[in-house]
Amino acid sequence: MVMALKGSYPVLLLSLVLLGAWLALASGQQSTSTNDQFLRWHWDSPKTQATNNTAYCNLLTHCRGISRRNNTFIHDSITAINSICTGKRDGPVISPRTFKITVCKFNLKTATATGTPLFHRIVVICKKKLPMCFVRSVRPTILV
Ligand SMILES: *[C@@H]1O[C@H](CO)[C@@H](O)[C@H](O)[C@H]1NC(C)=O
Ligand SMILES: *[C@@H]1O[C@H](CO)[C@@H](O)[C@H](O)[C@H]1NC(C)=O
Repeated sequence: MVMALKGSYPVLLLSLVLLGAWLALASGQQSTSTNDQFLRWHWDSPKTQATNNTAYCNLLTHCRGISRRNNTFIHDSITAINSICTGKRDGPVISPRTFKITVCKFNLKTATATGTPLFHRIVVICKKKLPMCFVRSVRPTILV
């Protein structure tokens, strides 16, 4: 009994350390948010490495379970993305600042993806102070 306890102690300790690390990571990434689906489809930061943007779009849409669909990936922190909806009513909101994004377009006829890296403002649908749907990206307006 004592031997078994001694043997399992490092394992238990390691489990606790891992649990602690996971909790720290999870809280840092706001896992309590209810827009996990939005983040799964649109958040990729830092941008996953791929040979080119076509390869990037194929890889990412495949991994996120949205192959053969047009989709935009945002390369910024969850905090920065979610803050677009801070203090906003439910509905569409245009981000005050620009985001580094990759727009993936899938051509159904040729079955090929094209990826375009952009630095655009983004329009999202806010619900309960969180981005829930991605609407589109817009070129930043140059004020003169
Ligand atoms: C992108 O990379 C893939 C391999 O990773 C290659 O097959 C394809 O030709 C490349 N496309 C362009 C447009 O360079
Ligand atoms: C992606 O968007 C383009 C227009 O920007 C459209 O022609 C095409 O059908 C869309 N592809 C899919 C898979 O919805």
